[in-house]
Amino acid sequence: MTFKLDKIYLAPMEGVCDAPMRKVLTHYGDYDECFSEFIRVTTDVLPYKTILRDVPELKEDAKTAYGCPCRVQLLGDESEPLAQTALRAVEVGAKGIDLNFGCPSRFVHHGGSMLLKEPELLHTIVSRVREVLDPSIVLSVKFRLGFLDADELPTIIKALAVDGVDELIIHARTRKDLYKKEGLNWPAIGSIIGQTNNIPVVANGDIVDYESSQQCAQITKTDRQMIGRAVFAMPNIPQVLRGQEQPLSMDKVLQIAWEFAQELESRGYPEKSLMDRLKQFLGWAQKYDGRLQEFFRTFCRSQGTLEAQQLLETKISDLINNPQAAIEATNAHNDMPEERFSGPRTE
Ligand SMILES: Cc1cc2nc3c(=O)[nH]c(=O)nc-3n(C[C@H](O)[C@H](O)[C@H](O)COP(=O)(O)O)c2cc1C
Repeated sequence: MTFKLDKIYLAPMEGVCDAPMRKVLTHYGDYDECFSEFIRVTTDVLPYKTILRDVPELKEDAKTAYGCPCRVQLLGDESEPLAQTALRAVEVGAKGIDLNFGCPSRFVHHGGSMLLKEPELLHTIVSRVREVLDPSIVLSVKFRLGFLDADELPTIIKALAVDGVDELIIHARTRKDLYKKEGLNWPAIGSIIGQTNNIPVVANGDIVDYESSQQCAQITKTDRQMIGRAVFAMPNIPQVLRGQEQPLSMDKVLQIAWEFAQELESRGYPEKSLMDRLKQFLGWAQKYDGRLQEFFRTFCRSQGTLEAQQLLETKISDLINNPQAAIEATNAHNDMPEERFSGPRTE
């Protein structure tokens, strides 16, 4: 049986999926929505300019240049500053707010997934944010299965499934699991369907291709999915998951990486940080697509944009002119490297 997906989202990824990256990724991927990186809210309501700096899409009807809506993600542990910051985001154009209770970073002392240990606080925060926002504004929460154990999930759901919450987005791992492959637990999501106060659930975690997406939909019993790390290797992943397209060819992926570099250049990024970001793009891509590993090792040693461009152009024309190599490489694509399951040092 084939599952038809209703919604496919581009995951928030701090330090990776900023506005220029969202622009390029939503050029090639028909996501229903993308999300900002988390914006940290502590004791003070954030200034308008901070919100607009992090989510410039708000000035353009809260959409990327390619028309993909962008939801604003906030992370914090105090209900009032979070609620008032959410209101400010709406004042400058946000149509959707997401609250992050999934970040496992040690550097977020009391926030993100740390709060999964405190269901009452979760409930207070979500209720207050929902209370201040107009009902037309979408409010979602993104979280993990639990802090230590997926047994915590029903209690967490009870706390978060506040009336008026529009979506529960669940990364199928606990905080303790971080990004470990063996921690992935789609069945835990499936087990709470029907207990969410009628709030739709979005499944997230290790959806990397058509097969894993179908398997995830079957197990989690939800037709909404969010994709993170695999998007760099397969920039058209929403169309692939919907069965509309084959994954883009490797030469196209490299061209998109270069388009990203050009996007950064047009925004005045210094060469050093542009190169770091380009290597980051290709670094994620090669983790999910073994065909890029060898090229990536060479590419990593490139010093500046001129050398990077030459390397990319040579590789792209090799791939276009040598279809046999591309076929061999396609076979290698099926052997996904284990490292694809590794996560960030700080989320
Ligand atoms: C580098 C990186 C940064 C991330 N930053 C965020 C973030 O800002 N907010 C958030 O809710 N999740 C963040 N995440 C988690 C992802 O949104 C997603 O839940 C996780 O990567 C699992 O999905 P995937 O297997 O499709 O990548 C981050 C993940 C990575 C790899």
